[in-house]
Amino acid sequence: FDPKTPQFLTSDPSSFASVSADDRWPVIITGAIDDLARTVNTVTDEEKAREGKSIIEKLGTLKYELQHDRQLSPLDDDGESDIASYNEELKQRGNPKWHDAPWLYSECYLYRRMETFFFRSKHWKGYDVFARQKMSTFKSSRPAVLELAARYRELAHEAESGKGHDGMSAEQIEEAEKLLFTEMCEICLWGNATDLSLLTSLTYEDIQKLQGSQARQASQKNIIVNDLEAAFNVMQKARVEKKDGDRRVDIVLDNSGFELFVDLILAGYLLSAGLATTVVLHPKRLPWFVSDVTPRDFSDLLNSMVDPQAFYTAPDDTGKTYPALSAKEVEDVQFLFQQWSEFHQDGKLIVRPHSFWTTQGCYWRMPHVAPELFEDLKESELVLFKGDLNYRKLVNDAQWDPTTPFTTAIGPMGPKSGIRVLAFRTCKADVVVGLPAGEDEKLRQLPGGGGSESRKWAWTGKWAVVSFSDGKV
Ligand code: F6P
Ligand code: MG
Repeated sequence: FDPKTPQFLTSDPSSFASVSADDRWPVIITGAIDDLARTVNTVTDEEKAREGKSIIEKLGTLKYELQHDRQLSPLDDDGESDIASYNEELKQRGNPKWHDAPWLYSECYLYRRMETFFFRSKHWKGYDVFARQKMSTFKSSRPAVLELAARYRELAHEAESGKGHDGMSAEQIEEAEKLLFTEMCEICLWGNATDLSLLTSLTYEDIQKLQGSQARQASQKNIIVNDLEAAFNVMQKARVEKKDGDRRVDIVLDNSGFELFVDLILAGYLLSAGLATTVVLHPKRLPWFVSDVTPRDFSDLLNSMVDPQAFYTAPDDTGKTYPALSAKEVEDVQFLFQQWSEFHQDGKLIVRPHSFWTTQGCYWRMPHVAPELFEDLKESELVLFKGDLNYRKLVNDAQWDPTTPFTTAIGPMGPKSGIRVLAFRTCKADVVVGLPAGEDEKLRQLPGGGGSESRKWAWTGKWAVVSFSDGKV
């Protein structure tokens, strides 16, 4: 079901695939070992501690196999139905070695294999080796969270009092709404710049710089494909045509912490502006690509916002303390908490995990592998795919010519699918499509752009694409 265009491989020294396999994955596994060792040290139940240590050994073996370029071994059965399909594909692909494997497959395999260690255990089912890191990074996003919470509350009050639209014509109102929609979407887009799997090269200070509103404005010119207007027009049309009907928007989530926070900002805005009546969020069923959202991350985020003062001022592991929030800052965050919890309780904000999102394949396979999900997404006005990995899966992480239309590269998810796709992606991998002719060449010539050797400009999250496909039947 996949496209014929070849995929990026971990053996290609000019691709971010090889940097990932050589440098990033060992660091990620080491981080997982450290986290688990820390938890095991606090465990009093002997049997549980022993089992924890044996998982640490398995993680160590995995790291050894990766660094010594062994073959990917079949996954141990953990009772979940996707294992057979991972193993079947592994065989079909000729049991590749770590440093000569398709990037997309091997990276998904890495996280799925780690999960088998926990899922097969007695005491460690559901343990998330990345949870600590996810929460502490969210905490370090405090300045951006407070800035956005204040901005959101101000907008909500304006909307409530109707003050925002005093004396404006219908056209002016629409223009103002489009601007606001654009702002909310850009917040949501750039929230993706800071996923934790790249943290191996970014400091917390770098992250904070990336998250503020000034950074966002400066980054507008870095959105090299921007179909936001087309997306706004369909939403607007649906609002008029189905005024009293259901209008659902889906968000296929990417990272937790700050990115989930901005996804919820967008969801809350769409619901309160009447651009959607329901928002369905799609998290991952298991810990994935370090920072991806699991259902527990969603509840942890909401819980942290019940008492923002306690959350933001609790000393961290090193004993470092933090200044208190002002009364207004506390209220701003609690306002968001209140609104999101109400939407959630009223069934307007729904969290719906599906095992398809952690399978190894691209989304070209969705109609065959997860037909009921494919049908379900047709019910949505707009399906927003967040982040780099979702983008790679939409286009099969293939070596497309960068001028290939997005609608071609997403295959069965594209024209005639009945699914409206909008991808928000800051570029953190080689693949990119939908560029005007000459754009890739131009970006390669920038300092650090990679020249004729590689597409390095697309590895760092500095550039973004917002791509839309109408999916009309
Ligand atoms: O490129 C680095 C990387 O870890 C990729 O392996 C992966 O596609 C991506 O980042 C994860 O980023 P995101 O969280 O945006 O999907
Ligand atoms: Mg991610």
